Amino acid sequence: MEQIVKTLKWKGNYLQIIDQSFLPIKEKYIKLDTIEKVYDAIKTLKIRGAPAIGLAASFGLLLAAKKASTMDKKRFMDEMAKAIRFIKSCRPTAFNLFYGIGRLQSIIENSQLDPQQITKKMEDECKKMFEEDLKSCTSIGEYGESILKDGMRVLTHCNAGGLATSGIGTALAPIYLAKRKGKEITVFVDETRPVLQGARLTMWELKKAGVKAILICDNMAGFLMQQGKIDLVITGADRIAKNGDTANKIGTYSIAVLANYHKIPFYVAAPYSTFDFSISDGSGIPIEYRDREEVKRIMGQVISPDDVDIYNPAFDITPHNLITAFITEKGVFSPDLLTNINF
Ligand code: MRU
Repeated sequence: MEQIVKTLKWKGNYLQIIDQSFLPIKEKYIKLDTIEKVYDAIKTLKIRGAPAIGLAASFGLLLAAKKASTMDKKRFMDEMAKAIRFIKSCRPTAFNLFYGIGRLQSIIENSQLDPQQITKKMEDECKKMFEEDLKSCTSIGEYGESILKDGMRVLTHCNAGGLATSGIGTALAPIYLAKRKGKEITVFVDETRPVLQGARLTMWELKKAGVKAILICDNMAGFLMQQGKIDLVITGADRIAKNGDTANKIGTYSIAVLANYHKIPFYVAAPYSTFDFSISDGSGIPIEYRDREEVKRIMGQVISPDDVDIYNPAFDITPHNLITAFITEKGVFSPDLLTNINF
């Protein structure tokens, strides 16, 4: 299936991204030609969504290798170690970032090669990860599509679409493929406060793809479920622990509890790069806390008195017992079968 948007594109000596902070007002593409610019773009949500963060960070590290000030092996390695620490400190929750950097790190550290050869291998690996993510999205879409029946009404949270990956997304991929097969799916989209990834990004790409989408405020989901208007929930994930506990955008847990109460299936769609089997359960997943201004403002407009206390966790943890199944590129698995997946 044709991609909805070219979220990121490697241009040989820079990374081109669509700047998501301007969406849906403006479709603006920007050039990131240093690791510092990539770091800033990830931190400020110009590029976001776990798989896209992982890919952008990897290309960022590649840029650091390409722009290294020395070809002396020892000094090159020191510069790379610093660059790895820097890019890893960008955002803590999405495992894809650590997965991507880990793959490059093993090239850097295990190699008997000179800096130029290391850089070349890193570039090949980045391109490979990009292609893998693209294919994973399609496979997730195919497995997920088989769950969707004609006429279904699906709720999603945040943005786990094309804008969050190099392909057609994770949670939205089944919806795109169902539409292509002629199934009529209605998607209810949580606006997703504080920074409105649902309203701004998911609505933008669903509309672009011609999918029937209805925007709701986050606090409306329970009422819709009570009214029998939701058949199924699909969200993405930022990090999945070994037992299936899942970190995703703040508000996901509330929806999972609501879905469980109303006996509505709750699916999480994610590729291998999001699974962190080194963490036994959700208590070990690092949660990002973001700037108070995100809560205090909506699209730049102040919405509360100046001196209020603010709490802004960017993600929450949905316990595995609230998750019906994971839709992965290898098939659909219930949480108790996760460790059996042959990725
Ligand atoms: O803060 P964000 O916009 O990076 O959060 C994104 C999400 O929570 C997505 O649901 C998740 O990364 C999956 S993207 C395929």
